[in-house]
Amino acid sequence: KTIAMTDLRSYVRDIPDYPKPGILFRDITPLLADPQALTAAVDAMAEPFLDSDIDVVAAAEARGFIFGTPLAMRLNAGFVPIRKPGKLPFDLHSFAYQLEYGTDELQIHVDGIKPGQRVLIVDDLLATGGTVEACLRLLEKCEAKIVGCSFLIHLEALGGEARMEPYDVHSVLKYG
Ligand code: PRP
Ligand code: HPA
Repeated sequence: KTIAMTDLRSYVRDIPDYPKPGILFRDITPLLADPQALTAAVDAMAEPFLDSDIDVVAAAEARGFIFGTPLAMRLNAGFVPIRKPGKLPFDLHSFAYQLEYGTDELQIHVDGIKPGQRVLIVDDLLATGGTVEACLRLLEKCEAKIVGCSFLIHLEALGGEARMEPYDVHSVLKYG
């Protein structure tokens, strides 16, 4: 059994008022729990970049890691973690950013990506774009060649793609 893109959407569960009143949370745990839906999601996220000579996939914890590693394997690329403070043991680049619900800071090892390496950023979801903007700034500090960004879900009403300019957004499921 394979799952069409139109059906993949039915594995995302809507949770009103989580984690705060007024936020409609798109819960991907039903999709993750289904083997065919998980494979279809990873395939669709990787597909535009199969011939892009990606050296490294970079992704921010925690939900970015879920898709980052299988995409790296699918693209014959390595994986570099972007983490919240206090988790990485070596020398760091840091960037503080605003979230849809709060603030946070992300870090990468200074030698995680070598200058000129071709990098794909991966995350489960693009909302305000704060997280991906932080990832972009960290990768720029590493002098990476940023090829693009691949998301499972794009919440288009939040305008996150504006914070990603001039880089391209690829998303599998778009919500208005
Ligand atoms: C979520 C999600 C994205 C980010 C999107 O992560 O996984 O990384 O928010 O929102 P933005 O575009 O407004 O930045 P979260 O920070 O909740 O952490 P988690 O992955 O640890 O759940
Ligand atoms: N849904 C799921 N995850 C999220 C959201 C959302 O609306 N915003 C930030 N991360």
